[in-house]
Amino acid sequence: MSYSGSAGGSPDQAQGHLVYLDHAATTPMLPDAIAVMTRELAQLGNPSSLHNAGRRARRVVEESRELVAECYGARPSEVIFTSGGTEADNLAVKGLYWARRDGDRRRSRVLVTAVEHHAVLDPAQWLAGHEAAQVGLLPVDRTGLLTPDVLRAAIEAGPGPETGALISVMWANNEVGTIQPVAGLAAVAREYQIPFHTDAVQAAGPLPVSFAAAGVDALSLSGHKIGGPVGVGALLLARGAEPVPVLHGGGQERDVRSGTLDAPAIAAFAAAAQIVVKHREEEAARLAALRDDLIGRVRAAVPDAILNGAPPGPGRLPGNAHFSFPGCEGDALLMLLDAKEIACSTGSACTAGVAQPSHVLLAMGAGEARARGSLRFSLGATSTLADVAAVAEVIGEVVDRARRAGRA
Ligand SMILES: Cc1ncc(COP(=O)(O)O)c(C=O)c1O
Repeated sequence: MSYSGSAGGSPDQAQGHLVYLDHAATTPMLPDAIAVMTRELAQLGNPSSLHNAGRRARRVVEESRELVAECYGARPSEVIFTSGGTEADNLAVKGLYWARRDGDRRRSRVLVTAVEHHAVLDPAQWLAGHEAAQVGLLPVDRTGLLTPDVLRAAIEAGPGPETGALISVMWANNEVGTIQPVAGLAAVAREYQIPFHTDAVQAAGPLPVSFAAAGVDALSLSGHKIGGPVGVGALLLARGAEPVPVLHGGGQERDVRSGTLDAPAIAAFAAAAQIVVKHREEEAARLAALRDDLIGRVRAAVPDAILNGAPPGPGRLPGNAHFSFPGCEGDALLMLLDAKEIACSTGSACTAGVAQPSHVLLAMGAGEARARGSLRFSLGATSTLADVAAVAEVIGEVVDRARRAGRA
């Protein structure tokens, strides 16, 4: 198994055209994951079938389950394969809410941070609109951080801890890269016996993520953020955390997530997890050095650029550099960079294209203008010094043009 030396990269990258700095949106599949997936796509068999071909597919799924469990500090029986991070988040938020409320009608309070991905925020809001959930948005500080004390105060300030149905706090933020103190937050939730879910989709590549050590009840993962395929992920679920299913059908995955298991994608996801976890430390250090170089060069070219999120260091994802450029529209910057074959994002890929200020930056206390004028560069396995240099070369001119366009 190999890592960044032979990391996949898109055909465009192979031709040397594209500077791809949007790894938080999706990162290229690792060559070994492609090889595993290609091999398995040629195989026949439904993992639920009893014949030989089915049993072979089942073996592939179960071996993958063991690998994913080992990579993320869980037991194999705690791994529920899903179609990705969005489904894992929905299953955790809706499923755990329903299970709690069905056991005790008073338990209707859901606490999520104001900076969650929409895959958590929207199911929580859906529960508020359709199932009478009382949803509270947990405040974060100016760097996007939620502290255990603030969580405790929010629980205490409510109608009573016995009404707690669920707390969901992401491990690391997809826009600004802020890392939450998940173990400390989960410990507070445990004191009040409120189930705790964490969306670890962005954390599972660059950070040491251990389900057991974090002490959480549920944890979301996504294949395509770690070098596996799109359309596969997992919810790690502690024993005793039994969500009401969102999907009903064949009863696969502990009866929690029905649907024929995608053995090739699951095998490739597990292969990617194994590789990223094995190389995590040196890769995180490499990315942090590149990221720091990028931050320094952007600041040199645009002295009034504001770095959003935590300072570079242990509180920030190693591959994340997120700026606000005063006087600019993020969308204009993105398109100007795109015209120069540099791919980045104004924030989460899921909201890009919709001209709205980032809810994450607003929750961090940024004004609308600053929130709209932001850009995220996210680095990953294929990122190099040449990518950083390409941004450094054009960012000053691009910001000038976006400012002039904004004034016109
Ligand atoms: C923090 C976070 N959660 C959830 C998701 C959704 O994951 P998926 O694309 O696998 O549905 C994303 C993707 O952008 C994400 O960044």
